[in-house]
Amino acid sequence: VTRKPLIAGNWKMNLDHLQAVAFVQKLHWTLKDAAHETDSVEVVVFPPFTDIRTVQTLIDADKIPFALGAQDLSTKDSGAYTGEVSGAFLKKLAADYVIIGHSERREYHAESDEVVAAKVQAALRHDLVPVICVGETLEQREESGPTAVAVAQLRAALEGVSADADVVVAYEPVWAIGTGQVASPEQAQEVCAALRTVISESLGDAAAERTRILYGGSVKSGNIASFMREPDVDGALVGGASLLADEFAAIIRYQK
Ligand code: G3H
Repeated sequence: VTRKPLIAGNWKMNLDHLQAVAFVQKLHWTLKDAAHETDSVEVVVFPPFTDIRTVQTLIDADKIPFALGAQDLSTKDSGAYTGEVSGAFLKKLAADYVIIGHSERREYHAESDEVVAAKVQAALRHDLVPVICVGETLEQREESGPTAVAVAQLRAALEGVSADADVVVAYEPVWAIGTGQVASPEQAQEVCAALRTVISESLGDAAAERTRILYGGSVKSGNIASFMREPDVDGALVGGASLLADEFAAIIRYQK
């Protein structure tokens, strides 16, 4: 099985729906000029909820080869849950992916492993591919080693997931997010390999073989290729650099 590389841009709470139009158009034209091969790399953007409709319309109208995702979803499908957004609504907006358990949600919104697991189930109920984020803080790495936290988080998130489910895993060491302190390719590979073992134990070998594992944390055009050379790194979840059209385009066009 060859896993198609996935380059994902997590905009976080940046770009309103008007800025999003200009940004997506600029990114599209930058890639078009350079004859981006849409078949070799899958690109997905994760705008804020309020931009999704706008970005979806633009992608449709201009036949832009980007997939669309949301940054979070509710554990519930509908009802009296003020402020929540259902996976059903996201699916109707043609979102294919949803980020779950990003360290910023775990930290600022106290999302536990149980909540993350419930969100994974909610995504799968609505035929959305969950991008399950795991990763350790520097303190945790020093205390329990590089793999323990990510492995435990992924095990919990995959609880009750069926062997044929389509999921993506993102390893994001918290100490490397938005800090410029990027993990080395070897550090990323070590944890991503351990995560593939977890997938194999939880969902079976076939799932482990086809599931894409991304690295995230200070990914830039200058370091993407070194991560993509690692056998268990199948793509990147990019934050800051995904907001710069030239830089994100260069990441998408990485050369092995
Ligand atoms: O979801 C993306 C990650 O949090 C990485 O963010 O590329 O700004 O370090 P960053």
